Amino acid sequence: MAKILSKKFYSEMAKLEPRYPSKVALLLPALHAAQDEMTWLPPEVLQEIADYIGIHPAQVREVASFYTMYNLNPVGKYHLKICTNVACCLRGADELVEHCEKKLGIKCGETTKDQKFTLMEEECLGACGTAPAMMLNNDYHENLSAGKLDQLLDGLE
Ligand code: FES
Repeated sequence: MAKILSKKFYSEMAKLEPRYPSKVALLLPALHAAQDEMTWLPPEVLQEIADYIGIHPAQVREVASFYTMYNLNPVGKYHLKICTNVACCLRGADELVEHCEKKLGIKCGETTKDQKFTLMEEECLGACGTAPAMMLNNDYHENLSAGKLDQLLDGLE
């Protein structure tokens, strides 16, 4: 089967391998690197990672489906994950979700037609002290307000 992941992915893994006790321990970094490259992890990519590591694809899927940070379905170019756990809710996270839904014209869990934005609710992002918090792809945005969110989204190409 033709490889989907790039040479860059394989050279990154080759660099990391000596730092890990076994190839299986490379699973999380491999999922991260693959997702950075593909934006999500289709079954063929999970298979390719399983082949590379030398484990069953079901084991790769088990791990990838345990963590919400791995996307097992396609997402937009900009993936917004707004924390709606207690501290963030107390500081207006639900209103931010509603604001985003109106602004983007989608409901939580959906992607805009142009594939630009995906909006999701997330469990605690570990930024409770600077709630409400959101991740935009791999970056944190904290102490959010509707105004800050607008500024951020309007600044994206
Ligand atoms: Fe939102 Fe912890 S509750 S970051």
